[in-house]
Amino acid sequence: MTQTLEPSAGRDEPSAAAQRVDRWLADFEAALADRDPERAAGLFATTSFWRDLVAFTWNLKTVENRDGIAEMVRATMDSTDAHGFHTTEEPTEADGVVDAWIAFETAVGRGRGHLRLTDEGAWTFLTTLYELKGHEEPQGEARPMGAEHGANRERVTWSEAREAERTEMGTTRQPYVLVIGGGQGGIALGARLRQLGVPHVVVDRHARPGDQWRSRYKSLCLHDPVWYDHLPYLDFPRNWPVFSPKDKIADWLEMYTKVMEVNYWSSTTCRSATYDETAKEWTVVLDRDGPDGSTEITLHPKQLVLATGMSGKPNVPELPGQDVFAGEQHHSSQHPGPDAYKGKRVVVIGSNNSAFDICGALWEVGADVTMVQRSSTHIVRSDTLMDLGLGDLYSERAVASGVTTQKADMIFASLPYRIMHEFQQPVYAAIRERDQDFYDRLEASGFRHDWGDDDSGLFMKYLRRGSGYYIDVGAADLVANGDVKLAHGQVTELTETGVKLDDGSELPADLVVYATGYGSMNGWAADLISPEVADKVGKVWGLGSATSKDPGPWEGEQRNMWKPTQQEGLWFHGGNLHQSRHYSLYLALQLKARAEGLDTPVYGLQEVHHTR
Ligand SMILES: Cc1cc2nc3c(=O)[nH]c(=O)nc-3n(C[C@H](O)[C@H](O)[C@H](O)COP(=O)(O)OP(=O)(O)OC[C@H]3O[C@@H](n4cnc5c(N)ncnc54)[C@H](O)[C@@H]3O)c2cc1C
Ligand SMILES: NC(=O)c1ccc[n+]([C@@H]2O[C@H](COP(=O)([O-])OP(=O)(O)OC[C@H]3O[C@@H](n4cnc5c(N)ncnc54)[C@H](OP(=O)(O)O)[C@@H]3O)[C@@H](O)[C@H]2O)c1
Repeated sequence: MTQTLEPSAGRDEPSAAAQRVDRWLADFEAALADRDPERAAGLFATTSFWRDLVAFTWNLKTVENRDGIAEMVRATMDSTDAHGFHTTEEPTEADGVVDAWIAFETAVGRGRGHLRLTDEGAWTFLTTLYELKGHEEPQGEARPMGAEHGANRERVTWSEAREAERTEMGTTRQPYVLVIGGGQGGIALGARLRQLGVPHVVVDRHARPGDQWRSRYKSLCLHDPVWYDHLPYLDFPRNWPVFSPKDKIADWLEMYTKVMEVNYWSSTTCRSATYDETAKEWTVVLDRDGPDGSTEITLHPKQLVLATGMSGKPNVPELPGQDVFAGEQHHSSQHPGPDAYKGKRVVVIGSNNSAFDICGALWEVGADVTMVQRSSTHIVRSDTLMDLGLGDLYSERAVASGVTTQKADMIFASLPYRIMHEFQQPVYAAIRERDQDFYDRLEASGFRHDWGDDDSGLFMKYLRRGSGYYIDVGAADLVANGDVKLAHGQVTELTETGVKLDDGSELPADLVVYATGYGSMNGWAADLISPEVADKVGKVWGLGSATSKDPGPWEGEQRNMWKPTQQEGLWFHGGNLHQSRHYSLYLALQLKARAEGLDTPVYGLQEVHHTR
């Protein structure tokens, strides 16, 4: 039965928008119940998008138009048996589009979603799974008691139970899921697996949770604001800074790992992993440091998650002369910060986020800094981005207007990637207009600036290629006014004293920083599993938009992230804090379902078009 959440008795008649949504949901549910894919698809507009996060497809999948929708309904309707569609708040209408928040059930779980209706039918439809029936998380009314009242000679305290689990897990009891990489991604997933009762271990080669952030250059602060950065279950407190300094985020992650009771093995490095197709389990070799040195441990999880970081595998160019250069050279991920370089000549290769952050901090201590730009960069001033780009979803203003972080995540998820750039383009046109003086100054300095291949700006660049931009927190002005010098071109070699460019010029240097970005995450699969498995799985990240550094064909979702891959039992997790928070839910539910032996027929497993 479909209906608006609150019965209308005693209230005004439902609005026209609510009536339209109720009618659509009832028709859709009836078509599903009658197992009639064409009728269900006919309720969608000719140009339409259905994005499903696990609820129907056991996959992250977007299908398009009536054909695509009919095919997905045909493949999933029996196993999903979706029903009980209803709105969860009053639908709204603007510019001929009705917006509705919905909930529904499937045979095995409960879902939430969103619908945009036009005169022609559904334009966008989002369905997401948020819990499995019979495996609901112990929270709210169902939270654990903690205390065990009464008298019990066999009493086991909370900490004794935790200690027993710590001792058993990985020795007498195998984890069902092993997560390699305990950065923010692995930690958030570990917290969700704990709540879902999935036996897990998260391993990280660092000594303490948060060390990945601690190890980065000392001036680093998040470029994303606090409302965007919450971890699952536990929001930052109201006095948390808008832009977290890196060591503060690190301490939060360490505390979070502890209080969320993630089974976390620090100082543990994964050496190799192989999958036994017959036994359907992994053999993973780990080195775990302890007081008596390093011990080799072999685990046999059924599921292996690589949460080793999309910005974790440094891309260091190999250049002639690197062996003869007399100065110091390192990748941005190894850059310690500026203190040792006062008065030194520094050449920073690259012109995006890392390059700007590092150039700015070096200039502040009095280094002589040159940035080498090879191709154009997209820059947005932080204040403007916070106001025009993120303000409606992730800000104090958004919270005050009822847009919680959870709701903002769902609004963001409800926009299909195929048309997301159309929503972004006007935002960046407004940014360009507001900061026209800034862009004029920057371009007058010779800096090559772009707005993305189709003028859709920063978020699309991030989703498509994870690179190519700088959120300006001040260093752009240093380039614009010449305080940080700018050179252009391809580096051809290093000499004993500096960096040579393809126009024959040479930049003298005491330090060369390669702010040259990071490689695809399936490079980790090649290192830890095998090149064959890495290529079988294919490139990780990107949408297939056929824009720079994101080759087609169109995928509809981010390649290989948080969803089944071509290698059974292998998953990738990561991204920025927003993605880690939101998508860890869907990954955790997919893992939980498998741990419980539920049937999880995957619809539309992604094909591989690009290797590493
Ligand atoms: C300089 C910089 C600034 C950034 N700023 C922001 C920002 O403002 N906001 C934002 O949302 N995102 C930001 N990002 C992007 C992203 O949030 C970070 O890269 C973040 O650290 C990703 O988290 P992760 O858990 O996916 O990976 P990581 O934090 O990179 O964690 C991966 C972990 O895997 C471990 N590991 C790798 N290999 C092994 C192995 N073989 N065995 C054991 N452990 C292993 C590593 O030790 C590491 O701790 C930034 C990235 C960089 C590089
Ligand atoms: N404070 C923050 O929030 C912060 C700070 C730093 C990084 N990050 C995040 O980390 C990720 C990576 O950013 P990033 O700046 O490190 O990398 P990036 O965006 O990939 O930029 C790499 C830069 O290096 C250049 N480059 C690569 N190989 C080169 C070569 N062989 N010769 C010359 N130039 C070369 C690139 O030029 P081409 O374009 O020509 O290839 C580009 O300018 C992003 O997601 C970013 O948001 C965030």
